[in-house]
Amino acid sequence: MSKNNKAQNKKRTGAVIAVVIAVVVIAGAAVWYTSRIDFKLQQAGYTKQQIQEIKTAFTDDEQKILAANKAQADIIAIAQDERFQADKLTDYLKGLAEGKDADALLEELDPWVIAIRAAKGFREEYYDDYLRVYPSGEPRDAAEKVAYINRSLDMINVEGYNVLFADEYEARYQESPQSSLEDIVKHVNKIHEYKDQANFIESKLERYEAYRAENPDLELAEVLRRVNAGVDKPFYTDIQPADMSKGYLVLVNKYFTVDRDYEPELEKLTGYGYGSLEKTAAEWFKKMVDAAKADGITLRSVSPFRTWGTQYSFYWGYVNSAGQAKADTYSARPGHSEHETGLAVDINTADTADHFENTKEYAWLIDNCYKYGYILRYLPEKEYLTGYIYEPWHYRYVGVDYAQKIMESGLTFEEWYALNVE
Ligand code: DAL
Ligand code: ZN
Repeated sequence: MSKNNKAQNKKRTGAVIAVVIAVVVIAGAAVWYTSRIDFKLQQAGYTKQQIQEIKTAFTDDEQKILAANKAQADIIAIAQDERFQADKLTDYLKGLAEGKDADALLEELDPWVIAIRAAKGFREEYYDDYLRVYPSGEPRDAAEKVAYINRSLDMINVEGYNVLFADEYEARYQESPQSSLEDIVKHVNKIHEYKDQANFIESKLERYEAYRAENPDLELAEVLRRVNAGVDKPFYTDIQPADMSKGYLVLVNKYFTVDRDYEPELEKLTGYGYGSLEKTAAEWFKKMVDAAKADGITLRSVSPFRTWGTQYSFYWGYVNSAGQAKADTYSARPGHSEHETGLAVDINTADTADHFENTKEYAWLIDNCYKYGYILRYLPEKEYLTGYIYEPWHYRYVGVDYAQKIMESGLTFEEWYALNVE
């Protein structure tokens, strides 16, 4: 072997040794490193089984993150939190391995939060509000809660929104879920505007509004009065059969009719004036006349129950002599007279010229009629509500349970009926 060859052989042997050493060092480092992660995971508090999972499911980098002390603290915090889901351990670890913080993971993996996010109508911009108002709950309720928050928050941007009425907006929605938010706000706001008014009837709100729009100069109280009495519709329009099921409180007027052949059970008023009345109305009428007599007051019926035919003759007689416009102020068209129910009676006169309102008989009636179930039906200065001039002689039986209340209310029967019977 030449000197040169010897030198070359020496060189090759050196290189091989260097490679072998390098391989051994790298392999050793790898083994050392691997066991070091195991060790660190163990140190970090993971169980053997978890470490096995971590080693199969996580990349080397992730394993490093999980082996860090912070991850150890995080996983302990997660496990101690009430939102912790034992079956999601791997997901928490995965999250920590991605660098997420413990609190974010607990929230993200909370079944309630997952249900909220999956709920129909979920909106990222309201996410904090969903959890602020409903920090927890049953996942099955998530859609309803999301819808509620959406509705409440969207409502805030509706014109006229008033935070003080928030509960009422919601109540209105429950009542009328098909309404738009604009309509809900408008409706509740309107009700507040009207609510302070005596005699407000919520179901008539649209009619008040319509009448108000047509009569912008009218006071709100007057709008209510008129609509309650029904006179937002012209007399003798939108005519309906009277609701006879209301018994002694039945309303008969220019909008509500009695059947052409209606006839109540009648009782003659013999000894108490002309004609007959419905049986109970007749009995109380007689008691009233007797009581008046004891006080030195003479009362008698001059016009009680009338058939449709009688009313027809009366009305058309007046039309022929005075003209229809005039006749309509003091005589009901056939079918529209209370006298046809047998519950109304004209006492002592039926003529304005007699000025019955100035008599002691009238004064007695005003003080006492309610005790016998009767009310004064066509009040002074209320012609525009009842459709008839003041008739101091016309009394209507409504029964003793209500007569006093109606007389004391000072309202027309139309208004009182709308407020209490309808
Ligand atoms: N005079 C009353 C209104 C009637 O005709 O019934
Ligand atoms: Zn009458």
